[in-house]
Amino acid sequence: MIKRINTKQLKPGMFIDDMNCGWLRHPFLTNKITISDEEMIERIVKHGIREVYIDTEKGLTVTDAPTMEEVNRDIQAEMDRVAESKPDPAPQVPIKDELKKAREIKKEAKKTIHNIMDDVRFGKQIETVKVESVVSNMVNSIFRNQDALLSMGRLKKIDEYTYMHSMTVGVLMIAFGKHLGFDKDTLQKIGIGAMLHDIGKMNVPEELLTSDRKLLDHEYEIMKQHVVHSRTLLENTEGISETSIKIAAQHHERIDGSGYPDGLKGEDISSLGKAAAIADVYDAMTSKRKYQPRYEPTEVLRKLFEWSEHFYDKQMVQQFIRCVGIYPVGTLVRLESGPSVIDLSKDTGHRIISHEPSEQWGIEPELHLF
Ligand SMILES: [Fe+2]
Repeated sequence: MIKRINTKQLKPGMFIDDMNCGWLRHPFLTNKITISDEEMIERIVKHGIREVYIDTEKGLTVTDAPTMEEVNRDIQAEMDRVAESKPDPAPQVPIKDELKKAREIKKEAKKTIHNIMDDVRFGKQIETVKVESVVSNMVNSIFRNQDALLSMGRLKKIDEYTYMHSMTVGVLMIAFGKHLGFDKDTLQKIGIGAMLHDIGKMNVPEELLTSDRKLLDHEYEIMKQHVVHSRTLLENTEGISETSIKIAAQHHERIDGSGYPDGLKGEDISSLGKAAAIADVYDAMTSKRKYQPRYEPTEVLRKLFEWSEHFYDKQMVQQFIRCVGIYPVGTLVRLESGPSVIDLSKDTGHRIISHEPSEQWGIEPELHLF
């Protein structure tokens, strides 16, 4: 039986089936491992891992822990409650009318962020004007129909991950900020901060960024410094607002204080910092990265819910799910009625019963959007 336990309940002889920390680097070669001694438990706790799944057939068990089925049932009930809440107002234009413009904006955004990253790598100043113009186009597109730009984010090749991730977090944060009720001026600042949140990575040695093996402890510490570099770079750039800086500076903070660089807790993290943490991990986990599996959006949303016990702000996670929807655009879904190709935005009589792993079906849903 698979059970979820707090890492404080761990004992030598237990078998970990899942470290349950998709966004976090853990110190072992595999996710599945037998606990050999107390030192191993200490390492797990020290890495900020709060809850793990154990397989009670392969090792010791505990009596007072929920099974995986019980955990999933609770999460599903919460997801269903979120789904019942009032939807956002309908978009101004249909998605098919916005896709062409969104494709142009994506191209422009990718080029802009690529140029800015190159500039920073070569020690040049960030040219704010460039990013201001593309973010303004992004904001307007999201007001017309957010799903057009949101659907662009998932289709990225591994080698363009750094650029595309910056763009996608930008899009997600503008849509999320709009959902939270921020005005267009603030959305512009949010978009700039989100597009540049990882810019400090350009001050990290390239061989660490492109490494195709797991980073060693001291290398990971250098990697974590990218947040400090992002903050410094933005603070030294004229015309960048405090709002934008906060987003970049706090995107790796976690509400229990286990994040970095400052280990801020709960209310010490700004609401946009909490939002950025969610958007960042959502995009990272739904993308194919080196040596990291890609998860289905619905699965990541469920995980965010589960992790909001310790790491993410629960209300923010609920708002994020309301913003992107339980089955975000580009999700492969199974319908109760079973037809293969229908437009769910027009044909509303069908009920979605679950999502399907697109890789298993050999289908890339994004390719069918354009
Ligand atoms: Fe980051």
